[in-house]
Amino acid sequence: MLFLAFESSCDETGVALVQAEQGERPRLLGQALHSQVDLHRAYGGVVPELASRDHIRRVLPLARLALDDARCQLSDVDMVGFTRGPGLAGALLVGAGVAASLAMALQVPLMGVHHLEGHLLSPFLSQDPPEFPFVALLVSGGHTQLMRVDGVGQYALLGETIDDAAGEAFDKSAKVLGLPYPGGPVLAELARGGDPQAFALPRPLLHQDNLDFSFAGLKTAVWTAHGRLPDAQDPKVLADLAASTQAAIVEVLVKKTLKALQQTGLKRLVVAGGVGANRDLRLALNDACAKRQVRVQYPELSLCTDNGAMIAMAAAMRWQAGAHDALMMRDYAFDVKPRWPLDDLGLRAAV
Ligand code: KG4
Ligand code: ZN
Repeated sequence: MLFLAFESSCDETGVALVQAEQGERPRLLGQALHSQVDLHRAYGGVVPELASRDHIRRVLPLARLALDDARCQLSDVDMVGFTRGPGLAGALLVGAGVAASLAMALQVPLMGVHHLEGHLLSPFLSQDPPEFPFVALLVSGGHTQLMRVDGVGQYALLGETIDDAAGEAFDKSAKVLGLPYPGGPVLAELARGGDPQAFALPRPLLHQDNLDFSFAGLKTAVWTAHGRLPDAQDPKVLADLAASTQAAIVEVLVKKTLKALQQTGLKRLVVAGGVGANRDLRLALNDACAKRQVRVQYPELSLCTDNGAMIAMAAAMRWQAGAHDALMMRDYAFDVKPRWPLDDLGLRAAV
């Protein structure tokens, strides 16, 4: 079975091809990706209308590149997948429309994939894939969740953010510091030269017994600290504030993740989503997990942020698990779900 899939939920256009048979590990045959970072930089963030128009321009040439990369023909494709949500409505509609049209032209089935399930299963694209069950820390621009994952489609929510996501905390704090979009990686880079203890920033909900997060207060604290700086242009002080911000986010993520591992008794951790590319987060998690004999796995760095490969992989793994029925879009009548709780995919309350 050859799966062709499209990702267009935000500011990356991704197309990929994955080959999957029953009883074998799916293989990524080829992919193509375009990031709109340069397009949105001048505006300091993603402009939805511009994002949709750029997806329209890019998506078919990228599909051609992905097919060439995989050395496949369009006529080889057995199933088409696309990111149905969550994400920006107009952006999602581009991938959905193209995927549905191709599937109809090829007379093959069409699957609407959940973006977060793509992130969650992205470590299965690595050479050394994880084994179920595991705890997943999903940290992206829009989501921060801890989950117990027992199999494809078997997800139990352990805790999540009650306000901003971890990526949002990076991005908003970066904006306060006057850093260019995309804030997360730029703030992380600036933090390398700073002292993480220079500023005492809050670690919300750290000592509460639950596994929930809250990052909205951190951005306000960064804003206040920045406003009090005697010289807000001093590069050393800015690096200190960046390092302190990153340290606060990383500490909360690590401590709550360790609590989740302890509560579930699981010895495997998977980290997914854009913030999973953060170097300090990885170092801190690696260190803490090594001390507790916990195996921690990440997607490849290039597959942490949005891409088509994770969507093709999720489609292929759903099909392999026989858990794809609920995702099929019959008669090519497609729609998108800008807000789509993972519960609709069989998420159950954690016990
Ligand atoms: O998963 P993703 O590509 O898109 C969403 O689905 O949201 O995640 C993007 C988020 C952004 O908030 C970005 O600032 C953050 O991931 N990010 C990082 C790093 N790389 C990406 N945050 C901190 N450090 C990084 N190295
Ligand atoms: Zn994402």
